[in-house]
Amino acid sequence: MERTFAIIKPDAFAAGNAGKIIARIYSEGFKIVGIKKLYLSKIEAEGFYAVHRERPFFGELTDFMSSGPCIVMVLEAGNAIKKWRDLMGATNPAGAAEGTLRRQFGSSVGENATHGSDAPETAAFEMGYFFSGLELL
Ligand code: RTP
Ligand code: MG
Repeated sequence: MERTFAIIKPDAFAAGNAGKIIARIYSEGFKIVGIKKLYLSKIEAEGFYAVHRERPFFGELTDFMSSGPCIVMVLEAGNAIKKWRDLMGATNPAGAAEGTLRRQFGSSVGENATHGSDAPETAAFEMGYFFSGLELL
């Protein structure tokens, strides 16, 4: 079993799509080990996405991620990191495959409904950024 970190981003939460996304998470066979709603500050969003600090879209991305509430989660499954990235689909919803979450719920490359860790090291950092060990028992 592997764990990964996921976010239902502010666009999907505001649109009322969190329940549908969570239902899909269960139907695809993930266990939700940790889950909470947060309203990130700009500084908290900047810390989370620090790896993208030099990218041209960093300001836009952190404004968006602090624009409204989101849901942060730790998901568990066999091969969870890749399995969740596959379920999300490509970063740009326009290019995401049919049946993926970003295709169904995303509206632009920035407002793309969900986040997922891209490797074991980033998953460990991201889970630890939002959850204590006690919250993941
Ligand atoms: P994420 O980290 O959110 O799961 O997305 P990702 O791996 O598919 O994409 P990444 O390259 O890590 O980019 C992080 C987030 O930044 C926003 N973005 N905007 N305006 C742009 O060109 C642009 N490119 C990326 C997206 O919200 C993306 O998910
Ligand atoms: Mg990424």
